[in-house]
Amino acid sequence: MDIRKSIRAQYLKLLDREPDLDDLDYYFAELETHRMELDDLTIILRNSNEFKELVKHQKTPELHIASIDTYNDIRIKGKTISTGYRNSEKRYDEIFKFCKQFNRPISVLDLGAAEGYFTFRLAEDFSGVFIAVESNPERKLLELCIKNNNRKVLLLDKQMNLKNLKNLKEVQHFDIVLALNIIHHFDEPFQDVLDTLVSMSSFCFMEHPNPLEDDSTKNSQRLEKEKLKLDSFEPVLLNKNESGLGNLLNQKLERNLWLLKNTQSKTIDRGWRGASKYDEEFGPGNHISVKSNFDTIDVDYGLRDEKRTWIQGIDLRTFLENNGVYPTNDEVLNLINNLKIDNAKDLGPHNLILNGEGLFPIDQDDKLDAVNTKEKLKDFLKQSGLL
Ligand SMILES: C[S@@+](CC[C@H](N)C(=O)[O-])C[C@H]1O[C@@H](n2cnc3c(N)ncnc32)[C@H](O)[C@@H]1O
Repeated sequence: MDIRKSIRAQYLKLLDREPDLDDLDYYFAELETHRMELDDLTIILRNSNEFKELVKHQKTPELHIASIDTYNDIRIKGKTISTGYRNSEKRYDEIFKFCKQFNRPISVLDLGAAEGYFTFRLAEDFSGVFIAVESNPERKLLELCIKNNNRKVLLLDKQMNLKNLKNLKEVQHFDIVLALNIIHHFDEPFQDVLDTLVSMSSFCFMEHPNPLEDDSTKNSQRLEKEKLKLDSFEPVLLNKNESGLGNLLNQKLERNLWLLKNTQSKTIDRGWRGASKYDEEFGPGNHISVKSNFDTIDVDYGLRDEKRTWIQGIDLRTFLENNGVYPTNDEVLNLINNLKIDNAKDLGPHNLILNGEGLFPIDQDDKLDAVNTKEKLKDFLKQSGLL
């Protein structure tokens, strides 16, 4: 692996954050000149106070499960080629019916996508951008993305924690989040995870285990204690589906599929993860508002006298920081090379919206930035260990 990427990977693994650019440069020089090895960096990070503080609050990592059953159906190029142990089709029918109401492209985040059934089907049936998040290699989702070869699909190979979700909420908005059988996988309070997911979306489909399920269901002992409160989301019960898990009795227990609505204002709170929040920079109440309905979606900058049409997608920085693997790094490089832009002013990766088909620059009327050419952008991404 490239040295900068390896340093970044160690920081993410041990400190759960991006390295500062100065530290990245420093360790890059040390490793490149063999004054230290990667193992030495691991030891340094493990000995840091930051690491010690982090592990104090961490739960014991889950043991790796050696083999898994296919959870949802496998879909390749419009055909279901094998079935999973949960009924995927009945659940998809409800999601499809709802999405039919949109008269415009949509953006969907499918958290814990497993074999990607919902992402692939939505990308077959609708225009827009469909982002799957899945980190378990045994799901083989990258392979399935390559086989499906649908440019509307993006894949983040990332095990999200609550902090990662909150970071994502601050910089992105999705028309729809699929939170299907995923919230109970989190170590953090289930309600905080759900609230964050609803806050980054306009609508959220949520399926959660039945509290009566036994310990064949992950974190089953927390289900009764941490009952989810849905009232503020105008919940609509869409259907019920058997858990399909564990002994015969457990398999028959039904899980509710809910449609939830974000009834609060929909905002984007900062330009990119490392930047200050708009309300810190420009005063309280400043943020970008997302104004959307089934026909249109626009962004309103509040104080700035500017309104613009929304480009569906995810900014390149957020995609790479969250370990975006599809489109692949090579394809992203091609997209950068093919970018059509005259008089670029700021080609920072937070200013490029990726939607699989291409990269679309935004905010090119502001001040001139140091990263203002494709070559400088590529250098910047390499320097930061992102590409
Ligand atoms: C029970 S399956 C649900 C699959 C799919 N959403 C469905 O309902 O058909 C949960 C999936 O989420 C993934 N997962 C669990 N925790 C995750 C996290 N924190 N971030 C991303 N994926 C996660 C697991 O690897 C697993 O494939």
